[in-house]
Amino acid sequence: MPTAVRSHAKINLGLYIGAPRPDGFHGLTTVYQTLKLYDVVTVRAQKADATRLRLTSNDSRVPCDARNTAWKMVALALEALGVAAEVEIHIEKRLPVQGGLGAGSANAVAALIGLEAELGPEGQPGAPALASETWETARLQLAAQVGSDVPLFLIGGTVLGLDRGQQVHPLPDIDPTWCVIATPAIGVSTPQAFRDWDALCATEGLTQQASQDKLNELSRAYASAFAEAIPRGGQGTGSSGVLSLGEDRAGPQESALVRTGITSWIQNDFERVVFPQHPSLAEIKRILAATGTPEAALLAMLSGSGSALFGLYLTRGDAEAARQRLLAAGVASQLTRTLPRPAYWSEMLLEKGD
Ligand code: C5P
Repeated sequence: MPTAVRSHAKINLGLYIGAPRPDGFHGLTTVYQTLKLYDVVTVRAQKADATRLRLTSNDSRVPCDARNTAWKMVALALEALGVAAEVEIHIEKRLPVQGGLGAGSANAVAALIGLEAELGPEGQPGAPALASETWETARLQLAAQVGSDVPLFLIGGTVLGLDRGQQVHPLPDIDPTWCVIATPAIGVSTPQAFRDWDALCATEGLTQQASQDKLNELSRAYASAFAEAIPRGGQGTGSSGVLSLGEDRAGPQESALVRTGITSWIQNDFERVVFPQHPSLAEIKRILAATGTPEAALLAMLSGSGSALFGLYLTRGDAEAARQRLLAAGVASQLTRTLPRPAYWSEMLLEKGD
């Protein structure tokens, strides 16, 4: 029996980008948030004399060779574990490709989780070659080799992302919040969006030092907003790790996200280069936001480099109203919820192989 794993999407609750670095990457300060939406990654693996990988997908746009993030992750993990295996991976796509929802990156982590489950003790933290703590660190490093936004999926929930996005720190989870994902029929290439950002930095004369100062300041601002979010006199995030509303202070009608004040200042720098090229995306943000109306979003913005945009809403009714507005404008959308860390992990395994 193969192992089926949910491969959840993410959005960025704000994304700040620095000037281009000598290594070709950009310093970032971002907060990732996992969502209930998912692809399904199925893995079948057994030890063999030599490693052989096979990858299939229901979506013809998914590369089925060593270019695929799930393929890369599994190959790197087997090598690090010192295990040779025959592995079959199937990716059932439900999330948009090139959507800014981290779908390909999540697929890599889901494939790793599936591989570990399939190999049992041989592919687990207790693998002969590695002590479990070493493996926890090693898999974060391997994930970072596969892509800058892969490691976040080894944490899940609400996650601070620094450096090139691969340095991840768990934050107190935001309350599960209604979320509408708009999926315009446009693909945005992330490397291209970074190149456009470079041109903007050159025009504006943003120096390495100034951009590093900006990123440091923002990471402090996030840290203090999330520290604020922990209910006072309470149990903090509690054993579940989920940030609960302090009802004495906020009442059930106020979102902790709003209470922290971060919705008033966070933004996504990619909007500055992506919106001028695709004005329809700026219009979709306005539709999601519905600023000044009773059904206004708590927050609406581009996710990653897009083209997906998201709106967060206090009630299901507000979220459904946003979907109606998008429908009227001919824009596809999906209704979901943000997924805190404990649920991310408890819901991940769909089917465990024998
Ligand atoms: O790390 P990942 O493979 O996702 O990055 C893809 C490309 O996006 C990189 O080659 C680089 O051009 C760009 N990138 C960047 N700065 C980052 C992350 C990605 O310039 N922090």
